[in-house]
Amino acid sequence: MKTVHNFNAGPCVLSKQAVNASMEALKDFSGTGMSVIEVSHRSKEWKAVMDETEFLWKELLDIPDGYKTLFLGGGASTQFMMVPFNLLEKKAAYLETGVWAKKAAKEADFFGEVIRVASSADKNYTYIPTNYDIPKDADYFHITTNNTIYGTEIHTDMDSPVLLVADMSSDMMSRPVDVSKYGLIYGGAQKNVGPAGVTFVIIREDILGKVTRKIPTMVDYRTHIKESSMFNTPPVFSILVMNETLKWIKAEGGVQAINKMNVEKAALLYNEIDRNTMFTGTAEKMSRSIMNICFVMSEPYQNKEEAFMDFAKSRGMVGIKGHRSVGGFRASLYNACPKESVLALVECMQEFEQMNK
Ligand SMILES: Cc1ncc(COP(=O)(O)O)c(C=O)c1O
Repeated sequence: MKTVHNFNAGPCVLSKQAVNASMEALKDFSGTGMSVIEVSHRSKEWKAVMDETEFLWKELLDIPDGYKTLFLGGGASTQFMMVPFNLLEKKAAYLETGVWAKKAAKEADFFGEVIRVASSADKNYTYIPTNYDIPKDADYFHITTNNTIYGTEIHTDMDSPVLLVADMSSDMMSRPVDVSKYGLIYGGAQKNVGPAGVTFVIIREDILGKVTRKIPTMVDYRTHIKESSMFNTPPVFSILVMNETLKWIKAEGGVQAINKMNVEKAALLYNEIDRNTMFTGTAEKMSRSIMNICFVMSEPYQNKEEAFMDFAKSRGMVGIKGHRSVGGFRASLYNACPKESVLALVECMQEFEQMNK
């Protein structure tokens, strides 16, 4: 297999250990003589995986009592609808920090009044707005903690006067989170915690049952809590890979240790972007994400974009093209992206500078 440096934005690089262990389970799951995709999801062997996965989430994030973790299908995009369906009685507040946040707010429009407290659309979402008021009578305040496309991130667990709801699709498990500050956290797994196909939800149970509307069974969180994410057939293989990914995070020293490495990796690349005259970071410094690092060619090197892309490709870099809506470059340094890959990209940028001076 050829060696590459995988900077894909999601689906993305996963730990080799998790991938290899999942391959074993594809062949023979838990000594059953069957593949994990052949066994009943009601079997005791599968139930053990579900229980362990939930246990690992609780342990790694230090989730307090009163919260449930769910593993559902539908992606984060389905949560854009499920959140207001279950929580929005009259009014909700949303912080618009990018396209995903905007899409989430749009779904809430179907259910009640939506206040967009602030938006960074004026500068193509290159910063996280800071001065805004959250209406005290809102049912909840929704944030997107990491904006995958623009490389901006809310780095701390904020205080909110109303229930805080967060889309953590692209920074979950990249740093310790004070779960007690949130009523609900959700995300697609396909960045830091597994493959596409499984969506995680962490929810404080007592916030449910407050809206007066009728909620169809499949989109009612209470259904999935009652049935421990097994109301219908769960995405077994995706959950299995997630389970192996969580075990790997634990073996690496947990979320705190992973965060230390993430901060270090991001600093390496940002330092090079700031030093190298050929490149410029696009996100405002205070808002820079440690997960997705976006940059462009500086003046007067804009015409070198394709040349750098080709050069980087020839050195094994994969997935560094910026999102089609912003252009330039984006390197996603998720948990499983090794420091060696970041060093290889930095070296590539340095060599390219030498070649063009
Ligand atoms: C921050 C964020 N929210 C939501 C989504 C959409 O996730 P899904 O494809 O699981 O619906 C993405 C996808 O990249 C994302 O980055």
